[in-house]
Amino acid sequence: MSTLPTRPSTVARSAQSIAEIETQRLRRRTFAIISHPDAGKTTLTEKLLLFGNSIEIAGAVRGRKSERTAKSDWMEMEQERGISVSSTALTFEFAGAQVNLLDTPGHHDFSEDTYRTLMAADAAVMVIDLAKGIESQTEKLFRVCALRKIPVLTFVNKVDRRGRSPLEILDEIERKFSIEPVPQNWPLGSGEDFRGFVDLHNDSVHLFDEHRANRRISSKVVSWSDLESIQPAIRPDLIDATGEEVELVRMAGASLERSQFLGGAQTPVFFGSALTNFGIEHFLHGFLKLCPPPGSRQTPEQRPAEPSSNFSGFIFKIQANLDPRHRDRVAFLRVCNGMFERDMEVTIARSMKKIRLSRAFRIFGQDRQTIEEAYPGDIIGLVCPGEFRLGDTLCQNEIVHQEGLPQFSPEFFAVLDCTDTARRKQFDRGLKQLIEEGAIQVFHDAHAKRRENLLAAVGELQFDVVRYRLESEYNAPTSLSWRPYKLARWFNATAEQKSNIKLPYSAKLALDQFGHDAVLLQSEWDIKALHRANPDIRFEEMRVTT
Ligand code: G4P
Repeated sequence: MSTLPTRPSTVARSAQSIAEIETQRLRRRTFAIISHPDAGKTTLTEKLLLFGNSIEIAGAVRGRKSERTAKSDWMEMEQERGISVSSTALTFEFAGAQVNLLDTPGHHDFSEDTYRTLMAADAAVMVIDLAKGIESQTEKLFRVCALRKIPVLTFVNKVDRRGRSPLEILDEIERKFSIEPVPQNWPLGSGEDFRGFVDLHNDSVHLFDEHRANRRISSKVVSWSDLESIQPAIRPDLIDATGEEVELVRMAGASLERSQFLGGAQTPVFFGSALTNFGIEHFLHGFLKLCPPPGSRQTPEQRPAEPSSNFSGFIFKIQANLDPRHRDRVAFLRVCNGMFERDMEVTIARSMKKIRLSRAFRIFGQDRQTIEEAYPGDIIGLVCPGEFRLGDTLCQNEIVHQEGLPQFSPEFFAVLDCTDTARRKQFDRGLKQLIEEGAIQVFHDAHAKRRENLLAAVGELQFDVVRYRLESEYNAPTSLSWRPYKLARWFNATAEQKSNIKLPYSAKLALDQFGHDAVLLQSEWDIKALHRANPDIRFEEMRVTT
């Protein structure tokens, strides 16, 4: 009589799955691109996907960009929403690795969304336009990365166009960010003189051939010492000037230490041209070598001593009405530990509520693809039954709390009212939901008798989105009246400190939506006055929501 095959013991099974999860984690890289509009984020994304053989998706990236820049007014806002709407991960394979590129909204007004999305990344790629250098939006986003200790790689784009000198760009990075830029390659000329780049690791020269631009081909590679004899078409003065610059960089600069990069003290710098594909492959190899595999997001005290297959992840984005055909809310979760399996039961750490994750998708724009499993670093869209809040940790078997999401000082404040009293209930319900999604922040006057909704956001367009959605989804018309505040500072203080706090004349004490103390201020000058008048209280421009 034949015996039935025995199932492996639970211990053996879990050991096997821990090893598999670790293999999958180590082959993943999850990152986001930070840049100022027009620096070339879309083009770089497209080209990375092209090199990862995700050609269809690469085309769609461009399509979305042109759609969203084509229209004006409400449509433009809607299209802008389109960017954040589809903010998810684009996935491609390169040299045996699975790369998850987190898509972030390009418009400054939605940067709160970008800040939160950065929390789901293990590294960031800062794209700088060679001609323009570091622009305001890049600066802000870099500071968020620094605050959250996300290592940053730099891609200096558009070297095929005349721009600033590469040395000037390195100097600017060092001056503005107090980080050491360490070039990994060096351009041979720029603009119409652009001839290729020198790989600083081995002194080989990758030659640019404009007839091959835009195609996915490896460039011709020659050694630096043979350059003049092999390529007589390259002007000797260009070769000399590049040689001198390379020598200067070598003498003055340090070499790249991975630990320094991971600790935020150094940024590797790659020069290239996304439009012509030049330098992309070199960058991708460098990126894979340097970018860390997905981290667990648990505090050192919470990290299990033994590797565990227990799943956990956190929600960094909630989006309603992603697709008008579905009319639902999707929560985007970044897997941090263990393995996600469709239909698994998890606990929401905040509410301790158990929930079955039966509808999980990979989402790109309007398209959804059901997923059965996911590993650390992966982003999944969960159809949200109204149970999840931004920043929630979902976990299996044991309860873990991951780092919270950051809340940044808003720059615009306004009171929002429902103009149709009969729709007040719907207005309240809609607003509550939008706040939970992170579409807007809300503050209340700490002393006012009547509790008014003082809404606050980093970008002005966020108010338009909230009003538009209240009207279209909840049939609640609204009116908006601006308040003069321009900044918020959070603080922790004893009751005595709080009652003795000295505020600038035009400032106001407030509570945010989580009940945390804050001061609302009208200018940078007011902040200085606030600090001077209250030296024993620490005021913060960012808070981590828990
Ligand atoms: P963004 O997402 O950061 O906003 O920038 P995007 O990639 O859309 O690039 C902005 C403009 O810069 C585009 O030109 C794009 O073609 C161009 N560009 C990007 N990378 C390079 C590069 O390496 N070299 C050169 N010369 N140009 C580059 P556009 O005319 O605004 O748009 P399009 O008509 O080309 O789409």
